[in-house]
Amino acid sequence: MKRKIVSVLVCAAMAATMIAGCGGGSDDAAATTTEETATEETAADDAAAEDAATDDTAASGETLTIGFAQVGHESDWRTASTQSCQDVFSAENGYDLQFVDCDNDSAVQLEAVRGFIEQDVDYIIIDPIVSTGWDTVLTECQDAGIPVIVIDRTIDDSDKYAAWVGSDFKTEGLACGEWLKAYADAKGITDLNILVIEGTTGASATIGRTEGFNEIAEREGWNILDSQTGDFTQEGGQQVMESYCKSYEGQFNVVICQNDNEAFGAMDAMTAAGVSYGVDGDVIIVSFDAARTALQYCLDGDLNAVFECNPLAAPMVEEIIKGLEAGEEVETEVYVEESCFAHDDTVPSISVNGVDTPMTVLTQDIIDARAY
Ligand code: AHR
Repeated sequence: MKRKIVSVLVCAAMAATMIAGCGGGSDDAAATTTEETATEETAADDAAAEDAATDDTAASGETLTIGFAQVGHESDWRTASTQSCQDVFSAENGYDLQFVDCDNDSAVQLEAVRGFIEQDVDYIIIDPIVSTGWDTVLTECQDAGIPVIVIDRTIDDSDKYAAWVGSDFKTEGLACGEWLKAYADAKGITDLNILVIEGTTGASATIGRTEGFNEIAEREGWNILDSQTGDFTQEGGQQVMESYCKSYEGQFNVVICQNDNEAFGAMDAMTAAGVSYGVDGDVIIVSFDAARTALQYCLDGDLNAVFECNPLAAPMVEEIIKGLEAGEEVETEVYVEESCFAHDDTVPSISVNGVDTPMTVLTQDIIDARAY
């Protein structure tokens, strides 16, 4: 609303500048035939016109200020997400990106959003660390007339945002469960004793993946021995797996890691404990995200399968912002595209929510062409 008033004023100012600019052209032509003083005057006029033009550019919305309250820097996925936003919302593309790494601290994230309101940014992007506790601050954004776009994880206790772009985490969990069922059947494994390393507690990525996987586990009567948070970090994954290796020694044959980095930590812990894993090992291990390093582990046989979570939401967010700037109706819910990857073709495809979903068998070419 506030910006609309500004842009009407800016149009009038721009029209005045354009008229002045045309006049300036003939002055310039005249300056070539007059004395030095006239040249100085023209230079001063040009500088003033340039200043006015710069002010107009900023005020007209050509440079949009975007506040981005990012979760943190806990994983390879997160690094790719941050990079994607920084690439899209760059100065060259006409943006002033105010970026806050909230270091997985919800209080810091709320504070960051309030800081963006103070700064009177044009748009706020939030990747919510946890899915609840948002209504008050989103009301504040609304009252300030600043549209919010939520990315990646969802907000479950407020609808006061313009749009959301992200992943269907429950479907990711279902895909993992369906693949495990088909893989175990193909390998003749009848008893599945599963350890889960969850993501951050309260994050919708954790909630959705857990819900989806557990639905298949219950349907198949699998034994989930334990499920603890590794906070989506390599260190967390390693610590949880070290403790699992002691508590469940010789009792487990599946480890589900809710992101790649936890899987890296879990692999280190199993190696240290003398537990073999992957396609030639005693323990089936899978992860979510599918960033390049994890895909390489999968190609090499250290991970059996990887279920993608696509971090490249920024181009879609930009489309939404452009639509809002143009006063158009925008998509309010946008799902990013995701694939499932495996080391081999033991399971060529799975059915998820009744949709036939291919399991892509990894090659080095796929990994080399990967954007993240
Ligand atoms: O919200 C997406 C999850 O958060 C990714 O799986 C994980 O790597 C990230 O930290």
